[in-house]
Amino acid sequence: IIPVITIDGPTASGKGTVASRVAERLGFHLLDSGALYRLTALSALRAGANLADETAVAQVGHYLDCSFVGDQVFLGKEEVTEAIRAEEVGNSASRIAALPAVRQALFDLQLRFRTAPGLVADGRDMGTVIFPGAQLKVFLTASVAARAERRYKQLIGKGFSANMDGLLADLQARDARDMNRAVAPLAPAADAHLLDTSNMTADEAVEQVLGWYAE
Ligand code: CDP
Repeated sequence: IIPVITIDGPTASGKGTVASRVAERLGFHLLDSGALYRLTALSALRAGANLADETAVAQVGHYLDCSFVGDQVFLGKEEVTEAIRAEEVGNSASRIAALPAVRQALFDLQLRFRTAPGLVADGRDMGTVIFPGAQLKVFLTASVAARAERRYKQLIGKGFSANMDGLLADLQARDARDMNRAVAPLAPAADAHLLDTSNMTADEAVEQVLGWYAE
């Protein structure tokens, strides 16, 4: 059986950083499921699709031609590693992620990331919907203030402009959408370990996850 570690949590909780470092330490593959929603959103925006058109966006997700090479993300032959991180794409991703047909369209693709020697899967519903039998489930949280600050640094570091008030409002809107949607709402799996990273460095969080996995 190929082991899976799921790391779920709200926007900017540090999941991505923790998941990729845990994967690196264990030599496991990484699934950044949020990237799939971002890629679907970017692809739909570019195709001029109406993001509220569930069938149209689900088609885009179903035929998504993406690949992950090291830290780079490709849509067809085009590298979109930075483009999918734009705040507009993140907000669009959060909107289309509420559409059941879109989630269904990305289901099989996510399962295919589980290959030897193991997988670390990062997202909102990895432990609840996609890999309910995972060997270890972690749910990361952090205060809204800590998350807004992380997102701010992340955006500025990537050369995007950002303003704190706008980010706080975006975070809260995204939390509300993720938690209140009808399908796969953001919530910890019953058997998840909760980890509040408000006052933790990424490395401390990584050590905690590796410690749980070794138990
Ligand atoms: O950066 P942030 O944590 O906001 O987003 P992300 O992990 O890159 O995911 C982008 C959006 O996709 C999120 O706002 C979620 O609404 C959605 N998503 C989801 O619904 N289910 C997942 N497994 C992963 C992401």
